[in-house]
Amino acid sequence: MPLPRASDVARRLLVGASLLLLMLLASACANVPQTTVLPKTEAAREIQWLYEIIFWLAVIVFIGVQGALLYIMWRFRYREGHALPEQVHGNKTLEIAWTIIPAVILIIIFIPSVQKMFDFDAAAQEGDYEISVYGKQWWWEVQYAAPDTVSEIITANEIYVPVGKKIKIDLYTNNVIHSFWVPQLSGKMDLIPGHVNSIGFTPETTGVFYGECAEFCGDSHALMRFKVIVVDEASFQQWASSMTAPPGSQAASLSGGDVAQAPAAFGVCIGCHRVAGTNANAAPVGLAQDAGTEDSPGAAKIAGPNLTNFACRTTIGAGAMPNDAEHLREWLYDPGEVKPGNYMATVIQEGTRDRRTRDETDDPARTELDVLVEYLSLLYPEGGCVPLTGENTEN
Ligand code: CUA
Repeated sequence: MPLPRASDVARRLLVGASLLLLMLLASACANVPQTTVLPKTEAAREIQWLYEIIFWLAVIVFIGVQGALLYIMWRFRYREGHALPEQVHGNKTLEIAWTIIPAVILIIIFIPSVQKMFDFDAAAQEGDYEISVYGKQWWWEVQYAAPDTVSEIITANEIYVPVGKKIKIDLYTNNVIHSFWVPQLSGKMDLIPGHVNSIGFTPETTGVFYGECAEFCGDSHALMRFKVIVVDEASFQQWASSMTAPPGSQAASLSGGDVAQAPAAFGVCIGCHRVAGTNANAAPVGLAQDAGTEDSPGAAKIAGPNLTNFACRTTIGAGAMPNDAEHLREWLYDPGEVKPGNYMATVIQEGTRDRRTRDETDDPARTELDVLVEYLSLLYPEGGCVPLTGENTEN
């Protein structure tokens, strides 16, 4: 087979490069809330700036190396009757050049990188709002720490913050290493057992910012997603006060008229889940735990998400499914099928809640599953959920 001519090679490269460029342009138009290249805070823009430095340096290196390669292939291509080019061994000037150039490039990358590391550290020292986030397997517990007005709030997987306020997030885990990452708001930060890492950013626009665990942490690592939900100040205060109050009066229909009482079918859930303002208030939270042994992890490790105002959540199981009655039923019927390895699946196996309810009811076909789905769907504040506006809310 004859070798392709140099001009053919060049043409193919050109076509390839154009396709790549088109793909890049198309990706910039798409609705991609987890993209790293559309930063929405100062912190994320600084990362983007570093990325651009590295990207353009890489482009220069790529063009230089590939250009030289193409030129040499063309210049010294095989031609009938031509002698071999001069054969050399060792070239001091060239070797010094290709040592110095990468060293200079690395210094250009190193200096701003270190500067940014210090900037990020400084930004994570304090915040108008301080939030403790605990990495669980596989979801995120969110406890508001400061100021005092919000310090009683515990929730999961959806972190509400007010726009324009400095947010400091402290990251904890007592199981394995996770990594907290909301690309449009800030960089990745690991959660490490026995050590607290912090991250700081100031959201500039309202909206929903998608995050995920960025460190492999077991079976359902891929289903350890979360959202940072940025709302205006008034909505945030409304949300905050609803998070420490009992559910709205609609929940009373399943609680014998008392919203502070979870229905009997919820009884088995109480060991692991809390609902603010109700009798479901004993489940362990944060790092609180029995010592735990090799075979039995501590209580807080296996406890589940706080379910206060659960109906306002956008997803079930840390992004495993959308939050609606149909998916909720699927989840509660067999949680292990939806999210492999999760602790709830050790208690609720396939169909175990699909049995006649202990609640008083005229309908003999009504099961615990029916009651639970209905109860969770009724867990929202009296006036309804806080509306989500702004960035990425079209998804
Ligand atoms: Cu947590 Cu991966």
